[in-house]
Parts: sequence; structure tokens; C-alpha cells
Amino acid sequence: MSELGFEHVYRAASDPGAPTLLLLHGTGGSEHDLVPIGEMIAPEAGLLSPRGKVLEGTQPRFFRRLAEGVFDLDDLRLRTHELADFVRSAAARYGFDATRVIAVGFSNGANIAASLLLLEHRPDRPLLRGAVLFRAMVPIVPDPLPDLSGVRILMSNGRLDSLIAASQAEQLKDMLEDCGADVTFAWQPGGHKLTNQDVALARQWIDESA
Ligand code: MLT
Repeated sequence: MSELGFEHVYRAASDPGAPTLLLLHGTGGSEHDLVPIGEMIAPEAGLLSPRGKVLEGTQPRFFRRLAEGVFDLDDLRLRTHELADFVRSAAARYGFDATRVIAVGFSNGANIAASLLLLEHRPDRPLLRGAVLFRAMVPIVPDPLPDLSGVRILMSNGRLDSLIAASQAEQLKDMLEDCGADVTFAWQPGGHKLTNQDVALARQWIDESA
């Protein structure tokens, strides 16, 4: 196990002014999965890609679920804070700017990225500057809602996704907007799988936020 608490891949930014992408894989994935996607989305950015520590059988995830789409909320809270601590420790260790981290998550990784947005505000600002959420659903509904003004979020969901109901995607979008985030939402014609359109859209969105 890495001394930072998560097995991970780190690549420094080639442009010191570029953000660091926090890459968060889907169920059964690894720290290597989204590295090529990160390179396509933001070639000059730093990449920090941890492997989820929860095992479902042999499949790594970022937090426990009780059933498909039914989450263990205590574990989700704990794992969200643990992941945030990892990001802060990695920033100190590798020397990247902890205030310029953009999450890029797919499926279970998108759900914990959404949870980071909703739960992580220590000491007084959101951990994430922005997030790309591919195939996310509502991970948790915090009360009160956090202030996410100034945070940019791209959500991309599949119209034919059999795992994530349209209402779940829309509910997350509405909640993030209620928090004051600047949310761009796109429906893709396909299902749960990531496509070239998702990647192209994310690249354009990142370019616009640079
Ligand atoms: C989750 O468990 O986070 C979602 O159901 C997505 C998935 O990983 O299948």
C-alpha cells in the first residue's frame, strides 16, 4: 500500500499553470483505467488517479453499496473524507496546487466525486474546483446543502443507461444547481458506457474553464 493510503498513479502537469485531474474509476476498475481519458481531456494537466479501497468480491470501488444503486451512507461519508485527505496529502507530497483540482469520475467514481462536492468543505471551501461526472446519480442528500458557488460541473449521462434512471441524473443536476454550482448537463444517446462524445465534450468543457 502506498504511504499516502491509496494505490495510485501520479503524473505531474507539463504546464505548471494547468489543473490536476483527480481520476476516479468505475466499479471493477483500477488506477490505470482513466489515465488515457485524462490525457485526452487535458493533455497538459497533472493526473492523480487512486484505486478504490472497497472490494466487492474482487472488484475495487470507492465506497460500499448494499445493492445496485443503494449505498451504505456511513461508509460513503467515511470514504469521502478519506479520499479528500488523500488528495490533500498528495498535493503536499507532489507539490501540486490543492485549490486547482478537478475530479473526473465514471460511474462509481462519478458518485464519489459528487459526494466530495457535497460533503468536503474543510476548512472553508470546497475541495474540488470543478468536476466532470460521467454517469453519476445522487450519492447522498446533505442537510444543509453546501455552497458550491464558483464550482463548475459537467454531467454527462446516457439516455439508454439501464443502471441510472434519468430522474436520478436530473435530481443530482438540480441539487448541484441548488448549491449554486455552474452545471452543464448533457444527455448522450447511448447507455452506461463511456463514449468518444463524452471525452470530446469534457475536453471542450475543460478548455473553456482554463
Ligand atoms: C455505484 O454503485 O456507485 C453505482 O451503482 C454505479 C456503479 O458503480 O455501478
